[in-house]
Amino acid sequence: MITELFTAMNISGCTVPNRLVVPAMVTNTCTKDGMVTERYIKYLEEKAKGGWGLIITEDYAVNVNAKGYELIPGLYNDEQIEGNIKLTDRIHKYDSKLFCQIYHPGRQSTRLVNGNVTPLAPSAIKDPICQEPPKEMTVEEIKGIVKDFGDTARRCKEAGFDGIEIHAAHGYLISEFLSPFTNKRVDEYGGCFDNRARFLDEILEAVRKEVGNEFPVIVRISGNEYLLGGRTEAESFELARHCEEIGFDAIHVSNGMYASAPIDQVIAPMYTKHALNMEVAEQIKKLVNVPVIVTNRINDPKMADTLLKMGKADFIGMGRGSLADPYLPEKAKAGKFDNAYLSYQSSGCKGI
Ligand SMILES: Cc1cc2nc3c(=O)[nH]c(=O)nc-3n(C[C@H](O)[C@H](O)[C@H](O)COP(=O)(O)O)c2cc1C
Repeated sequence: MITELFTAMNISGCTVPNRLVVPAMVTNTCTKDGMVTERYIKYLEEKAKGGWGLIITEDYAVNVNAKGYELIPGLYNDEQIEGNIKLTDRIHKYDSKLFCQIYHPGRQSTRLVNGNVTPLAPSAIKDPICQEPPKEMTVEEIKGIVKDFGDTARRCKEAGFDGIEIHAAHGYLISEFLSPFTNKRVDEYGGCFDNRARFLDEILEAVRKEVGNEFPVIVRISGNEYLLGGRTEAESFELARHCEEIGFDAIHVSNGMYASAPIDQVIAPMYTKHALNMEVAEQIKKLVNVPVIVTNRINDPKMADTLLKMGKADFIGMGRGSLADPYLPEKAKAGKFDNAYLSYQSSGCKGI
């Protein structure tokens, strides 16, 4: 029996009608100018029709060179607002809430997709997957990107999104500052925890300045980077506590970065155990008073409900589960588990 999944919960002032979340997933279906397309809107609209409580968009670039994929959307200029108003209006015909994920890819990008500029990073260490040597950022460049996040947040609010997710996970720029694996700076942005967190602190401050304290702003973090010299759970607990203290309204627990081993990857393969982040999320939930979202290898509504009942998290993200079946929530709500189960099978688990 499902008892928890279809109960509402607030994130700041935003009432999310159920606990099923579509986490950010790049579709790469926008234009080269970062404008949303009808195809992109329809893709998200299907999920709203299917009954997901919270849909988080794919990562929006905060400036014209902040792209990890060529055809992701952006809200780095005012012309991009109109298309997103169309998107939020379409989603709001249904009960789902829509948050916009905003990011800078840092070293996990290449000149081929980001407007032919050298990727930026806290330190000039190249990512083993992207293989593009990044430029170590000057303090002036850091301040410029902090401002980009603030300006992008303002446009998100103007476009009618219900909230914002700041992407501080998966080895992208904010995560690179946070992690001792990628941040070797010796100035006020490197070294001790407080210094590595300074970029995130300044970003949230810039965002709050634009959207106010009432607008939901959540953060996505990697609970464990699974890298020798990277961040492990102990420091992620410190980070989660810090995120609540500085004013984030929810914490979304993911894992890994591009450099992590395949089994511990951001999009963990089907041979990785189910719900691999549930223990970290549970510990974080004990530590903070804001809601906790957990994602990665959860692809069955009954499993999701059980995790909620066990207190592992407050919301369950299902990425590939939602790709396989955008109607999974409606089917589970109607008790059609044999039908919803099809998505479970097709999203990567065939009896493992
Ligand atoms: C096609 C695809 C694109 C993704 N793009 C993003 C992204 O833009 N931002 C992000 O934070 N995570 C991204 N992810 C990671 C997912 O949000 C999620 O954490 C991951 O798929 C694991 O969850 P799952 O097992 O439910 O699929 C992406 C995953 C997939 C499959």
